[in-house]
Amino acid sequence: MKKIIRNGTIVTASETYQADILIANGKIVSIGKQIIEKGAEEVDATGRYVFPGGIDPHTHLEMPFGGTVTKDDFETGTIAAAFGGTTSVIDFCLTEKGKPLYQAIKTWHDKSKDKSVIDYSFHLMISEINDRVLEQLPEVIDQEGITSFKVFMAYKNVFQADDETLYRTLLAAKELGVLVMVHAENGDVIEYLTKDALQKGQTEPIYHALTRPPEVEGEATGRAAQLAGLASSQLYVVHVSCKEAADKIAEARSKGFDIHGETCPQYLVLDQTYLEKPNFEGAKYVWSPPLREKWNQDALWNALRTGQLETIGSDQCSFDFVGQKDLGRDDFTKIPNGGPMIEDRFSILFSEGVLKGRISLNQFVDITSTKAAKLFGLFPNKGTISVGADADIVIFNPTRKRTISAETHHMAVDYNAFEGMEVTGEAESVFVRGEFVIKNKQFVGTPGSGKYMKRAKYGEMMTVSDQVDTVRSE
Ligand code: URP
Ligand code: ZN
Ligand code: ZN
Repeated sequence: MKKIIRNGTIVTASETYQADILIANGKIVSIGKQIIEKGAEEVDATGRYVFPGGIDPHTHLEMPFGGTVTKDDFETGTIAAAFGGTTSVIDFCLTEKGKPLYQAIKTWHDKSKDKSVIDYSFHLMISEINDRVLEQLPEVIDQEGITSFKVFMAYKNVFQADDETLYRTLLAAKELGVLVMVHAENGDVIEYLTKDALQKGQTEPIYHALTRPPEVEGEATGRAAQLAGLASSQLYVVHVSCKEAADKIAEARSKGFDIHGETCPQYLVLDQTYLEKPNFEGAKYVWSPPLREKWNQDALWNALRTGQLETIGSDQCSFDFVGQKDLGRDDFTKIPNGGPMIEDRFSILFSEGVLKGRISLNQFVDITSTKAAKLFGLFPNKGTISVGADADIVIFNPTRKRTISAETHHMAVDYNAFEGMEVTGEAESVFVRGEFVIKNKQFVGTPGSGKYMKRAKYGEMMTVSDQVDTVRSE
């Protein structure tokens, strides 16, 4: 059914203006003043912002990790994302050395296809580079529309790849038109520091942070940047947590390297002292890179404001406190790394960023949606409000106050890392391709209605026909 979103203030990455939006067949078909369309459903957005749906470029839904599996799957995770104003996620598809890439991709399709309530895509983890892997990559890109690869520089003996793998992935990515993403921490040094801490009997959650100091993130970020420069390739550094890493990105960008950085809401508003909470509660805040000393928050906000960091991912990787985080009660290295962030990404950036004058309203849209759409081959179908784009839209009440809590959140996990934090601004209604998923703060979507998104190559524009559903069944 056609819909008209009426009287809202439309905000894109570059403009703010009042107009109505006509939606038909999942697309924005007209934007103008006082649109008249017979039979269209009227949606009142008076006093509300009308944003392009959020794009979360960094999630781990139903992912095996740390001896367990993340609590939120593609159903609970995407429902929570939708409540928070996110209409697309790009999840990390894990691969295993020696196994066909398609096996991993099929596993991720199977996890997601009947569950997701919003649109979704996958990044592909590269755990090794050899002739067999290189042979498969063109098909992965062309058939699956997977145009971003992820290399872990940490998690030794689990996900960590060596520098040769990173460098060869960068070379292949340049050739194939793909963006390389890195988890930038020096895994070898972390391995040494953690063993040393355990030998000294230092087992509490705070040692997670103390054995992954900012220098190891800064060093790995700088190394990845140099390798990207050497390969003349393109690089995206995920979850930047500290000034050391943000500075390395800014330095490489000043030399003209094609490097992009993402931070996450948790690094903008929480700090290392949370890991010192008594009764093992610090484990709720164990993720990698770790939370940093508070002064880093200013550096991260400043980097977002000046465009040195360009996106915000949730790094959603949720584990229950009881039954999952407590695997590491006697040894911090056994605490599954990750936190529940998918739902509050948008609100925190609006409340702490826009309302506190750290970023502008248009920057907010750019950081939460448009830039990710551009970097990850979804623009202009996604990431903006324009005629011809998918009608992925958030009607946002900018004055509504709420207190974040596990009592009211929609994630499946038993705690919220931002518990008790008051935020202003809330997504009231959320549309994916013109259909309500959230209507007046109620979930009205359908598991399985989210579509798999094939993405354009790095730097290429998406055309409407590119974005088709594709699920390989072999
Ligand atoms: O601790 C984290 N961030 N867990 C998820 C995996 C990753 O490193 O992104
Ligand atoms: Zn990571
Ligand atoms: Zn992650």
